[in-house]
Amino acid sequence: MSSVTASPSISPLLPPGPRGEPLLGNLRALRKDPLGFFPAQVREYGDVVRIRVGPAYVTLLAHPDHVRYVLQDNARNYNKQTRGFAVIRELLGQGLLTSEGDFWLRQRRLAQPAFHRQRLAGFARTMVDATEDLARAMEPRVASGQPFDVAEDLTHLTLRIAGLTLFGTDVGDESRAVGDALGRVQTFANSRLTQLIPLPRALPLPSHRRFARDAGTLDRVVRGIIERRRREGGEHHDLLQMLMEARDEDTGERMSDTQLRDEVMTLLLAGHETTASALAWTVMLLSRNPEARRNLEAELARELAGRTPTVEDLPKLTITRRVVDESLRLYPPAWIFSRAAISDDVVGGFRVPKGSYVLIVPWVLHRHPKLWEDPETFDPDRFLPEREKERPRFTFFPFGGGPRQCIGNQFALMELVLVLATLLQRVRFDLAPGYALAPAPAITLRPRPGVFVTATRP
Ligand code: HEM
Repeated sequence: MSSVTASPSISPLLPPGPRGEPLLGNLRALRKDPLGFFPAQVREYGDVVRIRVGPAYVTLLAHPDHVRYVLQDNARNYNKQTRGFAVIRELLGQGLLTSEGDFWLRQRRLAQPAFHRQRLAGFARTMVDATEDLARAMEPRVASGQPFDVAEDLTHLTLRIAGLTLFGTDVGDESRAVGDALGRVQTFANSRLTQLIPLPRALPLPSHRRFARDAGTLDRVVRGIIERRRREGGEHHDLLQMLMEARDEDTGERMSDTQLRDEVMTLLLAGHETTASALAWTVMLLSRNPEARRNLEAELARELAGRTPTVEDLPKLTITRRVVDESLRLYPPAWIFSRAAISDDVVGGFRVPKGSYVLIVPWVLHRHPKLWEDPETFDPDRFLPEREKERPRFTFFPFGGGPRQCIGNQFALMELVLVLATLLQRVRFDLAPGYALAPAPAITLRPRPGVFVTATRP
């Protein structure tokens, strides 16, 4: 047994928490409004809360030290055998995000070189060019003044960028089908996650059939990427080639087709949806915060003077980067994730029983009133270096932490800054009146029903 704060000799108590209803526990409240429910429990019971979900109990952790303990210091005692990851596995199989142990480590080591700084620098041009294409395609909308959903455009953009940089494939034509399928798959995954007992997928329910169809669409796109590469052959130096050529050290065997499919699907989906949400939230926040927008536009004018950004410009675009961080704080795309305890543990003085789930919720920590002044206010200056220094690790962790930290975090941050710096020099977005907008908490945190804007020239 290990501990962060309690002595192992004292038999620790289970954490306090809401009783909930008979049978369902807190499932109904969770299903209705998880973004309201979790912070309310922390306000009521403190930073370690025991929540009954149907027949099981989960432990919600809302202290940075406890998050660090589970994700990093004692990460060996926690795995991803939770219901949340089981639902994600239905789509992604055993890719980097969902696999475990030695198998995961081997795959992670294989993919890591594709995300080294030098490799990333080589992606900057593609990111900027794809954004320029989008800016050009938006020109008629700037002229017409008609409202449109910029979140959809940004999803197509990030999908195109992921396809081009990681797999050398332009999935532009298929991006609408992928975006639509992925939206529905997320809704389905979410409803499955909040069922008392998940129904076997083999049951021929309409929702199950729709999921199978949507998963089939995504599968077709991914297999298409792999087959095209096999057909075309030639010299490539991208992630897809690394995965295709990798051989097992002991057996000399290549990755099976299923494993390759799982990795490509994971990287394609994890690599674009989260970034698209972050961009969409940023557009929304800038429209609601004109002063921050003026500061950002002034930085772009000063540092770039109308030209497109390069990787060398990144260190100078500090205001843009702070806007990105503040947007990731308020709307962390990966707003929740989970772990299962392999053996009994003690966290924050409370018992976490073997096999039980721990919930790590960036949404809660990023808005915790004890950790942030005016947590609901959009204030990019929170990320000024002198203010950041004061903050303990895991107060802000949009990319997770420890060994399972996001492999694409530097990729994503570079993409976010370059896309904004390219697009916002050409277009200014204002939220269109009459569209209510709310965060939709599914696997990722998306703006619902989209971000409807009108566009003008800055
Ligand atoms: C704003 C954008 C992004 C956010 C907020 C984000 C967030 C996260 C988080 C929180 C995790 C850890 C999950 C856990 O510990 O259970 C994660 C893992 C992962 N992310 Fe990201 N991510 C982003 C962009 C990307 C990109 C661009 C890629 C790939 C190109 C990517 C690929 C992955 C993969 C493969 C994992 C699993 C890593 C492992 O377990 O070894 N992500 N991401």
